[in-house]
Amino acid sequence: MAILVTGGLGYIGSHTVVELLQNDFEVVIVDDLSNSERFILENIEKVSGKKPTFYPFDLKRRELIKQLLDAHYIEGCINFAAFKAVGESQEKPLDYYENNLFTLVNLLQEFKERNISNFIFSSSCTVYGQADQQPIDENTPLKLPESSYGKTKQMGEEILKDFAIAHAKRVSLLRYFNPIGAHPTALLGELPIGIPNNLVPFVTQTAAGIREKLNIWGNDYPTEDGTAVRDYIYVVDLAKAHVKALQKLMNTKEETKIDMYNLGTGKGSSVLEVVHAFESANQIKVPYQICDRRAGDITIAYANPEKAEKELGWKAETTLQEALKSTWKWQKYLETRK
Ligand code: UFG
Repeated sequence: MAILVTGGLGYIGSHTVVELLQNDFEVVIVDDLSNSERFILENIEKVSGKKPTFYPFDLKRRELIKQLLDAHYIEGCINFAAFKAVGESQEKPLDYYENNLFTLVNLLQEFKERNISNFIFSSSCTVYGQADQQPIDENTPLKLPESSYGKTKQMGEEILKDFAIAHAKRVSLLRYFNPIGAHPTALLGELPIGIPNNLVPFVTQTAAGIREKLNIWGNDYPTEDGTAVRDYIYVVDLAKAHVKALQKLMNTKEETKIDMYNLGTGKGSSVLEVVHAFESANQIKVPYQICDRRAGDITIAYANPEKAEKELGWKAETTLQEALKSTWKWQKYLETRK
């Protein structure tokens, strides 16, 4: 019996595969390598001492999903495979709908036919938009996201709810806040393609001298220091939540189940706080300049993670400083690979 992890060589996927292997799950990875690299597979093996099965294909190829399911007894699935660049999704919305939603429906069609349940979906706090209250709990009303990327997450959730109800399945929708950091071994981490959009990879590359300076998008927000506030969650903590959410689904007797959890630390940090925490954790300067606000950015978002703690027995344990230390260690590792 194995767990299918789509996008298992990606950033959050690879950390979750390690946690699954360390919890004695057998793992089958599908990843088309469009936003990941093969050495991550070797590094997963180095970190865990175990070997997941790997299929390099695109989940739009439904016949290949069929073949995989004929070859393995799959007990559950964690679905990470998706495009995730907010800006790019505005330029290529159809690519996002096709890649993120066709693949999801393909998987579910096959699971429906084969009586496979226990589906974990990578969602995002972007489904809440700029919430009217903070912290954000699971009852906070959803708002239509500005980006097509965000819309694929909201639509994905709806598809899964319909799937669970119509076909008596168990699903868990995990709404991530802002994942950061790298594995403590520095063998796994985020691999941004080109110029990073996200804050922490950009800060890291600036510290490494790859970027001249960090642009801070706006210091006139109604927050304490004027910069926008997010909930930065350490990727290994986040990966552990997936194992807990999966175990919960697998242990439930109910045939139909729709869980949803906000996965964050419960603490908001401003952009300037992140920059200063990075500087003090790693004893290195990060040159920056203040620029105009970035279009589509919200002011503030941080989680109320109490539901996950109560129902999954999970909470984020790693501090912002520790997470930012691990990022820097990963950057150093990447430099040794060149
Ligand atoms: N920021 C900068 N300079 C940069 C990059 C980011 O100042 O070079 C700021 C942003 O303006 C924002 C904060 O840092 O205030 C965080 O930005 P990120 O791009 O790292 O993260 P976002 O919160 O904008 O987006 C993240 C994920 C999305 C997800 C979204 C949900 O990247 O996938 O959270 O809110 F949809």
